Amino acid sequence: MAAAAGRGGPGYLSRLLLSCLSYYLTLPPACPQPSPPPPHIIFILADDLGWNDVGFHGSEIKTPNLDNLSAQGVRLENYYTQSVCTPSRSQLMTGRYQIHTGLQHDIIWPCQPSCVPLEEKLLPELLKEAGYVTHMVGKWHLGMYRKDCLPTRRGFDTYFGYLLGSEDYFTHHRCYLIKNLNVTRCALDFRDGEEVATGFNNIYSTNIFTQRAIDLITKHQSGKPLFLYLAYQSVHAPLQVPDKYKEPYKFIEDQKRRSYAAMVSLLDEAVGNITAALKMNRLWKNTVLIFSTDNGGQTLEGGNNWPLRGRKHTLWEGGVRGVGFVSSPILKQKGIINHELIHISDWLPTLVSLAGGVINGTKPLDGFNVWKTISEGIPSPRVELLHNIDPIFENSSPCPGKNTSKPVSKVHPFVWKGSVFNISIHAAIRYKNWKLLTGNPGCRRWIPPPHMFDHYSKSLSPDEAAKNLWLFDIFQDPQERNDLSEKYPNIVLKLLFRLEDYQKQSVPVFYPDDDPRCDPKVTGAWGPWE
Ligand SMILES: *[C@@H]1O[C@H](CO)[C@@H](O)[C@H](O)[C@H]1NC(C)=O
Ligand SMILES: *[C@@H]1O[C@H](CO)[C@@H](O)[C@H](O)[C@H]1NC(C)=O
Ligand SMILES: *[C@@H]1O[C@H](CO)[C@@H](O)[C@H](O)[C@H]1NC(C)=O
Ligand SMILES: *[C@@H]1O[C@H](CO)[C@@H](O)[C@H](O)[C@H]1NC(C)=O
Ligand SMILES: *[C@@H]1O[C@H](CO)[C@@H](O)[C@H](O)[C@H]1NC(C)=O
Ligand SMILES: *[C@@H]1O[C@H](CO)[C@@H](O)[C@H](O)[C@H]1NC(C)=O
Repeated sequence: MAAAAGRGGPGYLSRLLLSCLSYYLTLPPACPQPSPPPPHIIFILADDLGWNDVGFHGSEIKTPNLDNLSAQGVRLENYYTQSVCTPSRSQLMTGRYQIHTGLQHDIIWPCQPSCVPLEEKLLPELLKEAGYVTHMVGKWHLGMYRKDCLPTRRGFDTYFGYLLGSEDYFTHHRCYLIKNLNVTRCALDFRDGEEVATGFNNIYSTNIFTQRAIDLITKHQSGKPLFLYLAYQSVHAPLQVPDKYKEPYKFIEDQKRRSYAAMVSLLDEAVGNITAALKMNRLWKNTVLIFSTDNGGQTLEGGNNWPLRGRKHTLWEGGVRGVGFVSSPILKQKGIINHELIHISDWLPTLVSLAGGVINGTKPLDGFNVWKTISEGIPSPRVELLHNIDPIFENSSPCPGKNTSKPVSKVHPFVWKGSVFNISIHAAIRYKNWKLLTGNPGCRRWIPPPHMFDHYSKSLSPDEAAKNLWLFDIFQDPQERNDLSEKYPNIVLKLLFRLEDYQKQSVPVFYPDDDPRCDPKVTGAWGPWE
């Protein structure tokens, strides 16, 4: 254990050489090979980047750096996140499903006294124990009502970024209607460590975060391995971007899509700059760079997931199948498209193992170590994936298309009676090629990008609009067009029993009311109030 913790420390190589030398002198000729130093880990998380928003998925949006980096690495094409922000980030940091942390429902809103439970041990804490320097830049969104919830108290040596979501890219202000108080407050949400960071007004957040990340990379000379978690604001709403990035997209008529495309280009440029800095500072040859979105694209704000069904905040593939890839000189196989089942909760055990660390002090993990799956192409240890169970799901955001009438839930003719899982509940589970959805999964349409909308958008049949149970073969039918639930009732039942098992181990949803003490009126900035 202690050896694992000290691995990669400053004196590590010389200690190893000495012990190797003395070993060699007494017992030739079997000198053990020193294991290679643990790699630097750069985890770049994009916000709300959709399936159809990167060049390598055929988008009209150009992403040359992401295309190139992923072409030299491993593209994860059967990779899943959660359908919204806080849940995805919570699983990345804990390696655990939301049914085990109480975060099954929605995001953490600015005034909710909630954060990732303090008894959860987070990824940066484990990497720190493995000898890493740990930095975070960008969006936290995992709760901040008390100081103990802040990134600097949860394993990061340094932090620079914002604690909430949906701020202004230039002013770094967040406006929020505080329920209970019934006032809307706009206040700064920007911090360096635990201190409010002023002096960044009018500078676009992606540039600020990139500069900070490059500074950290340039100054990284400790000899220790580096973990940098870079969680960009891009490309979440509001749709703000310096005009020059819109120039190449004059051909996109839809104003939202055009601005969004420009924002994606800026993000792509940022990733190019980060990669260049890693190379210039000679860290690249021992770096593992992971790029991931946090959920599907928000079609109401320029994003797109076509040809997948649904969008952000739904359990359809458009909500949960994520853009992701790994790029690194240390991958055993490169230039690969990987079709193995991988989930955002898998990064914690994967990265801790890559770091030579140990899973010590976490609660039981839902994630799997998938490094060999990514690097060598062996089958994924993950065969099942609980997308979520949220008993209080409700989403009334407009769902575009010709039919805007509200779906009416109908009890499925033959399944419900024998089964114990309530199929009115918003839930979905994957087992190998099969995916079962129940309840209202969220906007149930296929939403083409604006220039294709008139041609491809169809209204749902009344039948489809009224359903609350579906079974798909995702390998054959990733677009979720052909419901097989009536054809394979036994598979439906089997998966309902799995959902019931998960339901039994769920902790209650924790989704408290706004606490009016969050009011930033006095301090001028959002931050811990307890
Ligand atoms: C395991 O975790 C405990 C508590 O978090 C800590 O005190 C201990 O040092 C850890 N052991 C290792 C090997 O990191
Ligand atoms: C992509 O890679 C090719 C070949 O390695 C190179 O010629 C090109 O300049 C790269 N483009 C970018 C944007 O890095
Ligand atoms: C909240 O304030 C608005 C006007 O600012 C008022 O119309 C509304 O009735 C108030 N709601 C409550 C619950 O007090
Ligand atoms: C990337 O680097 C170029 C050249 O230094 C700079 O002009 C540009 O603003 C940088 N972009 C971002 C997003 O940091
Ligand atoms: C819209 O869906 C409802 C069921 O929710 C159905 O009754 C109605 O006929 C549909 N209308 C159109 C135009 O498809
Ligand atoms: C089934 O779930 C729905 C939605 O959560 C709920 O309204 C309903 O009361 C539940 N029915 C039973 C029998 O528990």
